[in-house]
Amino acid sequence: MWLSGRAEAVPGSVFALMDAAKGRARAAGLSVTDLSIGSSDLPPPDAVLDVLRDATRDAGTYRYPLFSDTAPLREAAADYLRRRFGVTVNADTEVLPLIGAQEGLAHLLLAVTDPGDTLLLPDPCYPPYLGAAAVAGLNVVTLPLRPERDFLPDLESVPDSVRPRVLLLNYPNNPTSAVADAAFFREAAAWCRARGTLLVHDNPYAELTFGEYRAPGALEAGLDGVVELHSLSKTHHMGGFRVGFAAGDAGAVAALARVKGAVDFHPYLGIQRAAAHALSLPDAVGRAGAAVFEARRDALIPALRALGWEVATPQASMYAWARVPGLRDSVSFAVRAAEQTGVAVSPGAAFGAGGEGFVRFALVQPPQVLREAARLLGTVPVG
Ligand SMILES: Cc1ncc(COP(=O)(O)O)c(C=O)c1O
Repeated sequence: MWLSGRAEAVPGSVFALMDAAKGRARAAGLSVTDLSIGSSDLPPPDAVLDVLRDATRDAGTYRYPLFSDTAPLREAAADYLRRRFGVTVNADTEVLPLIGAQEGLAHLLLAVTDPGDTLLLPDPCYPPYLGAAAVAGLNVVTLPLRPERDFLPDLESVPDSVRPRVLLLNYPNNPTSAVADAAFFREAAAWCRARGTLLVHDNPYAELTFGEYRAPGALEAGLDGVVELHSLSKTHHMGGFRVGFAAGDAGAVAALARVKGAVDFHPYLGIQRAAAHALSLPDAVGRAGAAVFEARRDALIPALRALGWEVATPQASMYAWARVPGLRDSVSFAVRAAEQTGVAVSPGAAFGAGGEGFVRFALVQPPQVLREAARLLGTVPVG
């Protein structure tokens, strides 16, 4: 028996159940429309792929990358933060490349907490947060995200006796697609500073914003006691490349670098070059990708409302979060829907108890496919 208590504590994933349901739908001859996973179906910008292709033919990229080799990506990240958010960071001490935001979060928790410390987490939330908390041995206290508060947590409701080591937030939000304004981040940062809590803001959807809306970042509230995780996965459609960066509080970034030093050697240099190039591209490139998701949103939301499902019009992210009237068991509904129609969505309960009654759609198919998926879901009994 080689299972540690730490490994055992990592929660199982509802996505395995969904995977099996998709398999049964295929075996029954249905064509599967998979809206259950938030992996961008768009390609990275051509110029980014060109940089990577050239790098693979440069023998200088084959060795282990050292910290000094990460300077161009750190500088590109610092430039991006300055241009996009008006935030100035020191590229040497306040930025660190990541092998994706998810890797960064898991190691950051190990770097800044001790077992038994308290982590304040939204409910619902991106499920790997719970796994990362389990690996770090943390005591999780949840903060409900409710529609009547526009899916923003009520920090004032947290009893004074709760002294979290870390507060983890994520806006534009997965799964609710809610957004937060700069004042919210200022209040959250002030709340954290007053309690000696590190504010960690997971921000992979920063550029997937619609219309005139631009998402603010948590670092706009100051770097002291704040770390933000950025990712190229959604903003530049580079999920498989596994690259992102952490930026913010120098002490927390140094702690993260220390833990990562025991675990990895930074991303492949070619991927670092591709990511640095992606971060330096004009805003228009990111806007073009975001517009594709916006058109999908515009197709899906009315189709869901026509079913009587309650859904806000997202201003950002790649999701729609719909409350289904009468839905009590979102997992069995999602499994049945996949088996009967071939349409796979994420059950709200997969994101925590606070997600029950909802389903999440990832906008990863063209508009007409999303409309047809909504129509098919309307044929599945809810109860
Ligand atoms: C909130 C959130 N954080 C992190 C990630 C993963 O980011 P990365 O690919 O950079 O690890 C996702 C992916 O769906 C996400 O939704």
